[in-house]
Amino acid sequence: MSANIIIGTQWGDEGKGKVVDSLGAKTDYVVRFGGGNNAGHTVHVGSEKFVLHLLPSGVLHSQSKCILGSGVVIDPKVFLEEIEALESRGFNTDHVFMSNRAHLIMPYHIILDGLWETLKGDNKIGTTNRGIGPCYSDKFERIGIRVEDLLYPEVFARRLKDTLNIKNALLTKIFNKEALSFEEIYDSYIKMGEKLKKRIINSELELEKALKEDKKILLEGAQAMMLDIDYGHYPYVTSSSPTANGACVGSGIALKHIDKIIGVCKAYSTRVGEGPFPTELHDKSGEWLREKGSEFGATTGRPRRCGWLDIVVVKHAVSISGITDIALTKIDILSELKEIPICVAYEIDGERVEYIPSSIEANQKAKPILEMMPGWDEDLSQCKSFKEMPLNAQKYILKIEELINCNLSYISTGVDRDQYITR
Ligand code: IMP
Repeated sequence: MSANIIIGTQWGDEGKGKVVDSLGAKTDYVVRFGGGNNAGHTVHVGSEKFVLHLLPSGVLHSQSKCILGSGVVIDPKVFLEEIEALESRGFNTDHVFMSNRAHLIMPYHIILDGLWETLKGDNKIGTTNRGIGPCYSDKFERIGIRVEDLLYPEVFARRLKDTLNIKNALLTKIFNKEALSFEEIYDSYIKMGEKLKKRIINSELELEKALKEDKKILLEGAQAMMLDIDYGHYPYVTSSSPTANGACVGSGIALKHIDKIIGVCKAYSTRVGEGPFPTELHDKSGEWLREKGSEFGATTGRPRRCGWLDIVVVKHAVSISGITDIALTKIDILSELKEIPICVAYEIDGERVEYIPSSIEANQKAKPILEMMPGWDEDLSQCKSFKEMPLNAQKYILKIEELINCNLSYISTGVDRDQYITR
């Protein structure tokens, strides 16, 4: 009876998709527990590349049932597009389901996401513009529309009417925009509901049964530690809880069933959108990391901001989520560097700080305190064991392990599904 959790330890884009995909082959269920199509998981299978935004990465393993849990916000149009795209490439998707309790992203969420950002001007978050924040706001405002409502057209109509009244007032009176048509939204959502019907389930009951039958469950996080609504760089965060703590709420699985909590950590750091990034590189090294690591957003195509590994951030993730194992990704990108800096603490107003301050102003002032590690020239992509890695790459891994006090038990050495080492 166990469930494992996979989460991001930095700002997202750590390569969780690859790790889930490698481990997904050994589980009965892959459950996404938060976020929506703001995520971008890239998975390589042979010469084929798949970019998924909403569907769990484990979807490519048809022996695992895939579920979008209650904590996910679902744009049904995007869901159906991703399903169709996979089917057109020969993948069966009969094993993909969604929780009846998950909230629906509605057209007004996407419009309002863009409008709020414009209104914030220089203080904008840099959201993905997919309606994520406005959808979660409605959930907590208790005016959200849930997947289950699609099954009952009268209920759906009533809820849509009530919420649309509020949204149209905002659109017309505050933003001077045109009101949205009830009929258009109603018709398109009910049609999509028809297509989704067979995939809508009571997922917490299904998962409870699965646990009793000793099935293996993988809870797949999206986004990451520093984007967490409570413990990230608020307000430059997403609107959900991508930590391990959010996994239980967003899947309906009780804490007592959790076995391993695997934190995915990239061997350097990247961030998209606005907000503090103490180790950010504004020079040629940053460009080098971006090009060599192909650091361009899978969802928005935006160039990612790049910097050195920030141990303060990863330690924060280990502590908040109780991470039991770290999966290190993209260490192969660091080959050819003479020296590799690691940020071990911050200097803020002349003081050494070894934790993430709560205030965004303090985080914005943080200067990285760097320790230098010797680099290596060898290509790591063919290494099949830790011992085969160049000595300095081994030292880099052991140093991280020592600094964060957590095992690095999985090391990814390339984009392919089977390019990884376990320790
Ligand atoms: P939202 O989730 O679209 O509201 O965006 C809020 C912030 O989280 C922005 O800075 C986004 O760039 C960032 N963000 C959201 N999802 C991801 C992700 O999957 N990877 C990296 N950044 C993300």
